[in-house]
Amino acid sequence: MEPVKIGLLGLGTVGGGTVNVLRRNAEEISRRAGRDIIVSHASARDINKPRICQTDGIQLTEDPINVVTDPEVSIVVELIGGDTLARELVLKAIANGKHVVTANKALIAKHGNEIFSAAQKKGVMVAFEAAVAGGIPIIKAIREGLAGNQIEWLAGIINGTGNFILTEMRDKQRDFDSVLAEAQRLGYAEADPTFDVEGIDAAHKLTILASIAFGIPLQFKKVYTEGISKITGEDVDYASELGFTIKHLGLSRRTEQGVELRVHPTLIPKRRLIANVDGVMNAVLVKGDAVGPTLYYGAGAGAEPTASAVVGDIVDVVRVLTSDPENRVPHLAFQPESLSDFPILPISEVETAYYLRISASDQTGVMANITRILADSGISIDSMLQKEPVADLAGSNTDSATIIIVTHTTIEKNMDEALAKINTLDAINNDVVRIRLEHLDAD
Ligand code: NDP
Ligand code: HSE
Repeated sequence: MEPVKIGLLGLGTVGGGTVNVLRRNAEEISRRAGRDIIVSHASARDINKPRICQTDGIQLTEDPINVVTDPEVSIVVELIGGDTLARELVLKAIANGKHVVTANKALIAKHGNEIFSAAQKKGVMVAFEAAVAGGIPIIKAIREGLAGNQIEWLAGIINGTGNFILTEMRDKQRDFDSVLAEAQRLGYAEADPTFDVEGIDAAHKLTILASIAFGIPLQFKKVYTEGISKITGEDVDYASELGFTIKHLGLSRRTEQGVELRVHPTLIPKRRLIANVDGVMNAVLVKGDAVGPTLYYGAGAGAEPTASAVVGDIVDVVRVLTSDPENRVPHLAFQPESLSDFPILPISEVETAYYLRISASDQTGVMANITRILADSGISIDSMLQKEPVADLAGSNTDSATIIIVTHTTIEKNMDEALAKINTLDAINNDVVRIRLEHLDAD
């Protein structure tokens, strides 16, 4: 049988890794797919740039349209990134009857509904395993392995760059900028690294996970998003003293009122496995009603871990090339006509616990005022630490004490209301620092 010909858009970190994996493992991949798979065409901005892969035998072009329109190409693999040119090329590939594999989470989160609908009409596949959590086959696990479950919630460390930065800062006291520069050099970071640092990349991925977990359309604009740039060493240390680790999590939970979609720094108990996921590694916890909690772990970024997911998708597409489109796994796990319009909850309606760091003048009655305000808003306290005033750098005593409060679960709007009142107390020196806290237990 003729080999299946792949047209690659992009020959950077993931594109180069994909060529290397396809070549190195060609024999085993062919035994799995039932066909030889070769990269016949590839595009890049500058085809003369040095590459991490060999390009002999590949027809190179600087115009990606040549790849998506070439009649020899059966599968277009989009590894350019961004959501403008990539969208145009993917839609053009679909219109030309090509199957598509992509690692582009921004593209799927923002334009997936349009892309899947176009693919459905044309009877072609669009596979995107590499778009979430790098090399971890989390899309396949939720879409296929957990298809018998009602998914209740999922929570994940889904940005490798952010987790790498937090780990290096905590363990080696390195500064933010130098770790970010290293993540960029290692090929982990997005073209615009604020996507990693401000949680946008994690929000793209959470959009996709929630959609396939709950059978809802992709709704990137509704994700509540906070990044890692405001996490301080002080909070990391206090959290640790209380038995927690701070991780940047994407969380989605189905409640009776709607679906929570949120990305933010989160305290989690140190004893949870996911609290010990460090460096560029990612992990996703998924709780199904039948299976209970399940955990998926692996490299979240990098050339070959991501290529592993891309090549897995290519093999899947090759295996079902001749199957009837109606009998394929649906793009978003649920049949397109069965997607639900379950609402996405605003962050004010989300239920979570909190870590509060309060800097207050060491005066009689401050603590009583704070606890009364929390109680008036229906918030109960789980634990509390009070740090006595310490000498400042010049050696003189400050009269500012630090109070750390961990609360039980409450609704965010109650906490907003309480913090607005606490922040106006005379004894409060700076706005209270609030970090959400999740126990991630099996319930
Ligand atoms: P790179 O920047 O390393 O590679 C991008 C490639 O696309 C390069 O070959 C570049 O050409 C080409 N390209 C960029 N812009 C254009 C353009 N306007 N016209 C033609 N070609 C263009 O990115 P990555 O490989 O890191 O990422 C690719 C995709 O994979 C992104 O969507 C990213 O989010 C996703 N991803 C990345 C992971 C990672 O660990 N890096 C992990 C998971 C997903 P040239 O080389 O000549 O500049
Ligand atoms: N920039 C992304 C990350 C790449 O660091 O997780 C993998 O999606």
